[in-house]
Amino acid sequence: MIVTGVSSGIGLAISIEALRQGWYVEGIGRNAPTELIEHSHGSFTTCDLSDRVALKELSLSTSQSYDLTVLVNNAGTLGPVKPAQKANWEEIDHCITLNTSSAMLLSAKFLNEVDGEKQLYFTGSGAAQFAITGWSAYCASKAAVHMYAEVLAQEHPHLRIHAFRPGKVNTPMQAEIRATTAADFPSVAHFKEEFESGNLVLPETVATTLLDVINTNQEIPVIFSISNYTR
Ligand SMILES: NC(=O)c1ccc[n+]([C@@H]2O[C@H](COP(=O)([O-])OP(=O)(O)OC[C@H]3O[C@@H](n4cnc5c(N)ncnc54)[C@H](OP(=O)(O)O)[C@@H]3O)[C@@H](O)[C@H]2O)c1
Repeated sequence: MIVTGVSSGIGLAISIEALRQGWYVEGIGRNAPTELIEHSHGSFTTCDLSDRVALKELSLSTSQSYDLTVLVNNAGTLGPVKPAQKANWEEIDHCITLNTSSAMLLSAKFLNEVDGEKQLYFTGSGAAQFAITGWSAYCASKAAVHMYAEVLAQEHPHLRIHAFRPGKVNTPMQAEIRATTAADFPSVAHFKEEFESGNLVLPETVATTLLDVINTNQEIPVIFSISNYTR
């Protein structure tokens, strides 16, 4: 299994759960977690996925062949949190490049370079489908990811290709959200309340659910919610 953005949050939890279940896990990102690199089935490739040159040079072909190879495009950023007209080119470009373009390019590499049975996943977001004041770049980047997954699934009907909405998950990204101001992000109080009330989803719950999706062959929509998934 290849997972991007494994140093914390959802990507780390997916990696740990996959290793626990006996998968070989290849992490890709800027920072390697010890849980992965110290495991006999874990490996890590350093790559800043917002760096076009580094991404272009990245190879996904492995010397080892597996019965099934899964790619989870998970690395992401919240991007600029502010009124849309105040976001500058660098902020917008970084968010769209990391959340959308790099996931598209990596998916293309995966389809072209990896042989054998494959499954492809994207960490999507409810923000792809609900406009959130202050999150223009993030909402746009995730909406594009959802549509890209829909197109890929249509082009490859024989492959399992999905984007999942994880819900509000207790990760460093949620801490970043809570640290914003109401002037930039009017719903910040709601996100603080959700955290303080213990309503955030655990990254481990996202991980076990995703692994269940991967391991079983249920008919589910291309875009699905972790919270709605039942066996
Ligand atoms: N938490 C939520 O409530 C929530 C809800 C919906 C969707 N999501 C999505 O879930 C995914 C994971 O986020 P998270 O919540 O688990 O937050 P997180 O803990 O901040 O994880 C983000 C991951 O992306 C990696 N990353 C950031 N910039 C990168 C870059 N330039 N190159 C390579 N990797 C990079 C980070 O690693 P380094 O910083 O070490 O490079 C980290 O491992 C994201 O796509 C996010 O949009 C989260």
